[in-house]
Amino acid sequence: MNAIDTSLSSRPATGNLAGAVADLFGELGLSLADDLGSDLKVFSPIDGSALATLKMHRAADMDTMVANAGAAFLAWKQVPAPHRGELIRRYGQLVREHKEVLSRLLTIENGKILTEARGEVQEVIDICEYAVGLSRQLFGLTIASERAEHRLTEYWHPLGTLGLISAFNFPAAVWAWGTTVALVCGDSAIWKPSEKTPLTALAFGKLLQKAAADYEFAPDHLVRVAIGDAECGGIIADHPGIKIVSATGSVRMGQDVGVRVQRRFGRAVLELGGNNAAIVAPSADIGLALRGTIFAATGTCGQRCTSLRRLIVHDSIRTGFVKRLIATAASLRIGSPLVDETHVGPLIDKAAFDAMQRALEQARREGGIVHGGERIDLEGSPDAYYVRPAIVEMPAQSEIVREETFAPILYVLSYTDIDEAIALQNGVPQGLSSCIFTNDVRESERFQSALGSDCGIVNVNIGTSGAEIGGAFGGEKVTGGGRVSGSDSWKNYMRRVTATVNYSTSLPLAQGVKFDLDID
Ligand code: UN1
Repeated sequence: MNAIDTSLSSRPATGNLAGAVADLFGELGLSLADDLGSDLKVFSPIDGSALATLKMHRAADMDTMVANAGAAFLAWKQVPAPHRGELIRRYGQLVREHKEVLSRLLTIENGKILTEARGEVQEVIDICEYAVGLSRQLFGLTIASERAEHRLTEYWHPLGTLGLISAFNFPAAVWAWGTTVALVCGDSAIWKPSEKTPLTALAFGKLLQKAAADYEFAPDHLVRVAIGDAECGGIIADHPGIKIVSATGSVRMGQDVGVRVQRRFGRAVLELGGNNAAIVAPSADIGLALRGTIFAATGTCGQRCTSLRRLIVHDSIRTGFVKRLIATAASLRIGSPLVDETHVGPLIDKAAFDAMQRALEQARREGGIVHGGERIDLEGSPDAYYVRPAIVEMPAQSEIVREETFAPILYVLSYTDIDEAIALQNGVPQGLSSCIFTNDVRESERFQSALGSDCGIVNVNIGTSGAEIGGAFGGEKVTGGGRVSGSDSWKNYMRRVTATVNYSTSLPLAQGVKFDLDID
């Protein structure tokens, strides 16, 4: 079982990470001088050391920020969309130039391994390119009118200021998904990042501000970063000056934010918890299924909303598959995410570790057999929380299996009949991502059909995580129903106009209504 690469785990995780962060900001040509204060202490999950202490924005600061963003919107919405796209093109270029520096900063603050951090920064670059293309395609419709010499159309206008609340696990990409698209749609934007990853947010936000400052058509205050806690998020939810609130995070947060936004008839786009499952069918390519499930379950240390949390494996292959899964999980290299060979970095903090241990205890009480899951001590990092991913064989889809625990825990269930597997997959409150490993076309089609998975994301022979930016991203049920980005979700950031033009000399009414008046 104990196959951790000790040469890695005995290596100190770090040097002076606060110094490294200061250097990285220097390399980006950005200063944190105006942001430092005494309100919010930021730590690195790599060794638990303090990285910086920031000022937080208070209610009065938020009012000013929203008012300024409102004024910026009035100017920006007049700029033709392809010119708005030019700002994003320049920003994407800046991110591309600084990809490595931004990736290191992201790893230091969030703890995901460097290759995943580079993937996240690439996701930012990709969405910039997508948004630039979109800036020439914000298309409407021409609809057949029932009246002669009438033209019926639908088109789209900028909506207002976007307030985007994001989580620690994707501290840059999720913001970029919403913000770059909203900007080409003609909106202004305020970003409230997680209080666990504000430095990454400041770096990405300031680079965009820099691109805007250098662009003649971009007004001041077009994009701002609001540093704060849940109170700050609440201000965004309630503020009538914020027309769209995009929130990614826990179901509890989304329930609160969604209701508050709805109360004032704002627009909410919610992407909340997932409890994603993989079905492994008898015909599956076992090597592929193993690789797919292990990455999906342990990538970002199980802290993606798309992380694989449940494995539903056919009875006939269960014993062999689970044995290999346990052995593979045990062989993963756990250690500093800054070291290239590492597979799994640390959990974000102690609270995440405690939640993981509580879930494992509950799983044991519910009849589960736990493999792994224990803390790994890294020399010189007593305040960091490294864990061995846990594989937990469960007798049934009990209460704990139906919950999302933001940690690398994979619950294993088994099935006999494909419809039973689909029922298990759907038998949880969440509906974000799902997948099946099969080479049977009937099973694959059934899984994707209306009788199949009830999730927003449905994959075949791919794990549940790692979606591309082109497709709509989000899910159903308590996942919130929102689609933050991709496909046609740009429509979330605009308002729709239905326009009917009469170019005849008469006034026929729709539905054949007669209303004759004696007027010349
Ligand atoms: C998230 O965890 O909130 O599909 C976003 C994925 C990534 C995005 C995850 N592209 O895993």
